[in-house]
Amino acid sequence: MNDSHGISEWPDTGALYQRFDALVKQPMRPLRRDAMERVMRYFDERCTGSKRMAEAAKRVIPGGVQHNLAFNHPFPIAMSRAEGAHLTDVDGNRYIDFLQAGGPTLLGSNHPAVRAKVHELLDECGPVTGLLHEYEVKLAELVCQHMPAVEMLRLLGSGTEAVMGAVRLARAYTKRKWIIKVGGAYHGWSDQLVYGMRLPGTGRMEATGIPRGSTAFTQECHPNDLDALRRKLLINRLRGGTAAVLVEPLGPESGTRPVHRDYNAQVRRLCDEFGALLIFDEVVTGFRVGMGGAQGYFGVKPDLTVLGKCLAGGYPMAGAIGGRREVMMLLVGGIGTTSRRAFVGGTLSANPLSCVAGYHALTEAHRSNAAAVAGRAGDRLRRGLDAIIQRLGLPYVVYNLGSIVHLQTSGVLLLDTGNPLKLFKARHEAKARKHMMEEMGAAYTAHGLVTLAGSRIYTSLADTDEVIDDALNRFDDVFKLV
Ligand SMILES: Cc1ncc(COP(=O)(O)O)c(C=O)c1O
Repeated sequence: MNDSHGISEWPDTGALYQRFDALVKQPMRPLRRDAMERVMRYFDERCTGSKRMAEAAKRVIPGGVQHNLAFNHPFPIAMSRAEGAHLTDVDGNRYIDFLQAGGPTLLGSNHPAVRAKVHELLDECGPVTGLLHEYEVKLAELVCQHMPAVEMLRLLGSGTEAVMGAVRLARAYTKRKWIIKVGGAYHGWSDQLVYGMRLPGTGRMEATGIPRGSTAFTQECHPNDLDALRRKLLINRLRGGTAAVLVEPLGPESGTRPVHRDYNAQVRRLCDEFGALLIFDEVVTGFRVGMGGAQGYFGVKPDLTVLGKCLAGGYPMAGAIGGRREVMMLLVGGIGTTSRRAFVGGTLSANPLSCVAGYHALTEAHRSNAAAVAGRAGDRLRRGLDAIIQRLGLPYVVYNLGSIVHLQTSGVLLLDTGNPLKLFKARHEAKARKHMMEEMGAAYTAHGLVTLAGSRIYTSLADTDEVIDDALNRFDDVFKLV
């Protein structure tokens, strides 16, 4: 075990894939119907304030939530307080926070040291000036110091923007157009990357409103399939070449289908052989897997690194492209420049508020070894969950990559899509399995556990052994309802 890394041990991926296979080949094991009725009563009886707010939200916000991927079963719970490991909703119910706002709050919610620095900055200059600020430089220096493959940094507004910019930069640098991603990975919602999301092989399934031309040079490979990647690189060589291979270094959807331990190194080799840039999307892994991200953990240097989430410590506007100086210089800023460049920017990019928050959050994460502490909390949770699952004889699969814990009960994200026939079957089966995942998510919530859509759990620095053991008792109560 390496104490400075967020991930203490890479799981045995071969064994995991066998368990995934077993999970999706058997009938679902949802909660008993009488138990599910009790779960729903919790929302009706104890969440009346949230329900009222959700109804008001539905009238003015499409679907009543602001993100296509937000959890809203049976309706979104409205939170009024967030502190450390806990959230409190508008009705006064308290939850253990395993959503972590989708990843950025590695220090736990609303960390007082970061908040105090943000207050100071707001008193001095407000959130934005549009001009250079000390914290822009300090944050960029800090990231360059810790991330092995980042020599220069360009701050942007979100992970989506940063991925979009990185792809443009790779195309500008290589003068090629093809982009290869891994099926199932989420890289934000830019036109060219709403492609092969969640389930590998689904291509343009979710590309409503996106012309074919926008995804014409986007391709996907099945997770861990290096032969398929090589074939695509070979074919692309005959028609102009591949600009970049884009990966989430733990595997698509934050390791929902985890990579084999040497996958990233092999992809690096293939990129070198074919002259394509390797882009690591470290929007989730940046600082959560360690101060050096997944690139530090795997010892593999991408050409470009995309950052987000933890970069601003949970404060708004988190996105950045980092990489080798020679490549990064194609993002040269300033209106006076006459250099050839890939155009990126944003009115609020690199605003002092996000930069001061990011700088102090990352400084605190480094000082407290937050990734490792959160990772050990993830280990404890995973061990406990595994023990409960085994004791109750359930087919569920739990594993963790440090502070990213995957809890697969319905297996919807693991359906076999390896060939067109399997993909066709999977798309039919996905609906029922997705509903089970929603029910599990609702049951966790009713037991005081907020998770990411009922299948993922992020732990943080605030998750002490007591918090994790409390959570385990609650999960035990839920699983007894199956
Ligand atoms: C791996 C990855 N890349 C990119 C994004 C998009 O980031 P944002 O939501 O900041 O646009 C996400 C968001 O969840 C992500 O998980």
